[in-house]
Amino acid sequence: MSEEECFQRLHWDRTYESTKDFFGERPSELAISVLPVLKENGARNVLELGCGQGRDTWYLARNGMNVTALDYSETGICQMKETAKGSGLEDVVTAQVHDAREPLPFPDESFDAIYSHMFFTMELSEEEVGRILGECRRVLRLGGINIYSVRNDHDPHYGKFEKRGEDMWKNPAGFVVHFFDEDKIRRLSTGYDLLWIKEFEDPSPPFTKKLYEVVLRKPFS
Ligand SMILES: C[S@@+](CC[C@H](N)C(=O)[O-])C[C@H]1O[C@@H](n2cnc3c(N)ncnc32)[C@H](O)[C@@H]1O
Repeated sequence: MSEEECFQRLHWDRTYESTKDFFGERPSELAISVLPVLKENGARNVLELGCGQGRDTWYLARNGMNVTALDYSETGICQMKETAKGSGLEDVVTAQVHDAREPLPFPDESFDAIYSHMFFTMELSEEEVGRILGECRRVLRLGGINIYSVRNDHDPHYGKFEKRGEDMWKNPAGFVVHFFDEDKIRRLSTGYDLLWIKEFEDPSPPFTKKLYEVVLRKPFS
């Protein structure tokens, strides 16, 4: 792991340590928007990547899904395990520390759906994102869906601050963000059917972010 990658991981740990519900208590706009899509596609077993402190994990679990939630922040995962105690959701949420750049620790075709909000938009190169999407395809059942969101090239932070790589800039809060345009999303959809790319806004403070909601399907054959 490079020095910057190490820093990013520690930065998430420290951020979660110092701020309970860093992204707020409510589920994200993405989770609210795609819950019906997950239900229509018969999603029961869902894998979530980059779950953070779990605001979307709890939302999906409260809405009838078994969620396996992964993040490389030990602090985030420990906090989730604490929150789970006595919540009545202990049996339907499994939180696990895992760096998604490593192979996913699950057999082929073990999930109905994969979900991630603002995870692929972290300090991951296009090649790493492609590799992780390939792993996601492996662990998805045939016909399963992979829903993700990424900050896009219309976002107010696009092209601003300290350049850290291809389409990546480090913001004043210390986080490296990777921005995506539609062409990149199409390139990365190899091996999936791309169902849609939809722009949406995340109005949470301190500024309104612009994102793409992406829905991919693993082909039935
Ligand atoms: C922008 S936050 C979003 C958190 C959560 N999805 C939410 O919306 O509340 C991105 C999350 O991805 C995690 N993350 C970044 N790189 C990762 C990696 N390589 N493997 C696993 N998790 C990672 C961070 O620790 C952080 O919790």
